[in-house]
Amino acid sequence: VTEAFRFRFGEHQTRVLFLDAPDLDGLGDSGQVLAVFDRNVYRLHGAGRPGAVVLPAGERGKSWRGAELILVSALKAGLDRDGRIVGVGGGVVCDLAAFAASLYMRGCRLALCPTSLLAMVDAALGGKTAINLGRAKNLVGTFHPAEQLQVCIPLLSTLPARELKAGLAEALKTALLGDAELLEMLERRRAEVLRGEPAVLEQVVHRSLAVKGRIVENDFRETGSRAVLNLGHTFGHALESATGFRRFNHGEAVAWGLGRALDLGVRLGVTGRELARRVTGLLRSYGFALEAPGRLSAGCLLQAMQADKKRRRDRLRVVLLHGVGRAELREVEEEAILATFSARVGDS
Ligand SMILES: NC(=O)c1ccc[n+]([C@@H]2O[C@H](COP(=O)([O-])OP(=O)(O)OC[C@H]3O[C@@H](n4cnc5c(N)ncnc54)[C@H](O)[C@@H]3O)[C@@H](O)[C@H]2O)c1
Repeated sequence: VTEAFRFRFGEHQTRVLFLDAPDLDGLGDSGQVLAVFDRNVYRLHGAGRPGAVVLPAGERGKSWRGAELILVSALKAGLDRDGRIVGVGGGVVCDLAAFAASLYMRGCRLALCPTSLLAMVDAALGGKTAINLGRAKNLVGTFHPAEQLQVCIPLLSTLPARELKAGLAEALKTALLGDAELLEMLERRRAEVLRGEPAVLEQVVHRSLAVKGRIVENDFRETGSRAVLNLGHTFGHALESATGFRRFNHGEAVAWGLGRALDLGVRLGVTGRELARRVTGLLRSYGFALEAPGRLSAGCLLQAMQADKKRRRDRLRVVLLHGVGRAELREVEEEAILATFSARVGDS
């Protein structure tokens, strides 16, 4: 077991451990444990674990019903405040288990074992919990960081290739926010990354966590600087919502959103053309689609974006990139956004 990081988020502390396999019973910690999985992860990595909560897989599981199931199971299991909820899964399970833990007895202990690359590099760290309210993604949530994060790279060996790629979109976003070497690594070692070479993935996860942890430490409750983590997300959420959360997974939508954010940055004179070309080239080389899907109109995407909670009056707030490690949240006119929806990314 290697303790890689110890982050301080407000009054909370999160220890990040790298392990070969999850240790759900707490690495010597006493206290009762309620493990939460989704069906896929339970079948692959949790079978045989008695008393676990097993949720349906996918974004639709991130609901009041899912949260209630965890809470009722915690009550039935007699979990007290010394007990822990342990979420083992992708971003959906991590967000949901953390949401339930923040509510149970006004907040019980929480550990997370992220099993998707996206959850390892992003969702499991930083204390944001959420459920969806119908199509309104992550509309209801709390702040409740895990006290322990168990990162087990070998779990990624069962992750489908499409999900691995989804995590790479978030890793690339993180690289753009604060790690030029990670950006280079994603360029240079693309073949190994896509093959899922554990040693390379471990570095990708480690470096991404370092950047995200630092950003969250400086602004745990997102009163300001943490908002840069939404780079590509205001666009990405609009795409997910306009397509009913069925066509694209979160990472694919974020990759598309990164392309749009760079295009918009170039249009507004914030992002250099060279950087935009480099990153869109990289996204394409990983196989991400950067054009708006055929029948979706710019107006329809804009509408979905307007419903986003980061909206202020009739202007939209978007994260733009000045350079690697230099991002800015800016209010932007809707016209500029419409133009970037209609453009071919990379042409601006
Ligand atoms: N809280 C945050 O800060 C934050 C940040 C980013 C994303 N998120 C949330 O994360 C969610 C997306 O996460 P995700 O992409 O991990 O989705 P997910 O949890 O739905 O997982 C994707 C798929 O991979 C499967 N899976 C997970 N681990 C596996 C493994 N080791 N082997 C085989 N299959 C496995 C899951 O069953 C699921 O079918 C979104 O809801 C998003 O809002 C939260």
